[in-house]
Amino acid sequence: MKIETVGVIGAGTMGNGIAQVFAAAGFPVVMQDLSQEALDRARATMQGSLARQVKKGVLTEAEADSALARITQATTLDPMADCDLVVEAIVERLEVKTGVIGQLDAICRKDTVLASNTSSISLTQLAAASTHPGRVIGMHFFNPVPVMQLVEIIRALQTTDEVAAAVTEATLAIGKTPRVSKDSYGFIVNRLLAPLINEAINCVYEGLATPEDIDSMMKLGANHPMGPLALGDLIGLDVVLNIMETLYSGFDDPKYRPSPLLKQMVHAGYLGRKSGRGFAHYAT
Ligand code: NAI
Repeated sequence: MKIETVGVIGAGTMGNGIAQVFAAAGFPVVMQDLSQEALDRARATMQGSLARQVKKGVLTEAEADSALARITQATTLDPMADCDLVVEAIVERLEVKTGVIGQLDAICRKDTVLASNTSSISLTQLAAASTHPGRVIGMHFFNPVPVMQLVEIIRALQTTDEVAAAVTEATLAIGKTPRVSKDSYGFIVNRLLAPLINEAINCVYEGLATPEDIDSMMKLGANHPMGPLALGDLIGLDVVLNIMETLYSGFDDPKYRPSPLLKQMVHAGYLGRKSGRGFAHYAT
């Protein structure tokens, strides 16, 4: 099983980064979204991101141009018929993702690998929606995709060794570092990271210290490059709440209970950088 052609479904924040890194590594990529507007925006974003990589000396101008030329676009799933690997990066809703898996089952070859970039949905549940569950796997990229080194590879209970090996090899081929884990709530990175951010928010809630001081304590005392509250603002507090709720309900364990202040921040629309206000204020 060798991956030579790649399909990316969803041209949002993650989809355009994923398409770009595969194309920059020489893979022909077909990118699909229901919305032509999203595809147009994605092309402009990829152009800007590739231009920054040229400026930094990561790519030459010719390499950036040919990466962009390797990406074709579509508004239907039909071109996925020719792909060895399809990476899905659409809205985080189980029924939408299983719907797409059903469509791909009808369109793709039976050995096409179906990877999901989901950050919280059970891969085992997604795999169960496929007529060939052994080919379903998690490929969890991190934002911003062109910069972040890790791809968390999540094996569903049904994923075959062959599929896990092919996806690991493809991850190395795009210059990223694969690390494999079994399917579980929050996988590894979010299971560790979200409770840290949540507990920092509890410290603010209890009035123990200011957000600035909590962040600087973790930078100076734990050598973190960024404080947990600034990181929560960067990820999006709604996303952090979503992960905490997944952990809390999945494990049914009070240690994952979302902070009351985290819930209030989300209800108030203080989502972090993207809304201009979280634990800090941001120019929008
Ligand atoms: P986004 O909202 O930026 O983009 C989603 C795109 O999917 C939109 O362009 C939308 O038009 C398209 N879409 C929706 N339904 C579709 C369908 N049925 N067929 C084709 N296209 C469809 O979302 P984002 O942030 O890129 O997230 C995508 C996935 O990646 C989610 O599963 C999310 O949990 C996961 N993820 C997100 C991270 C982040 O930092 N944003 C990090 C890691 C994973």
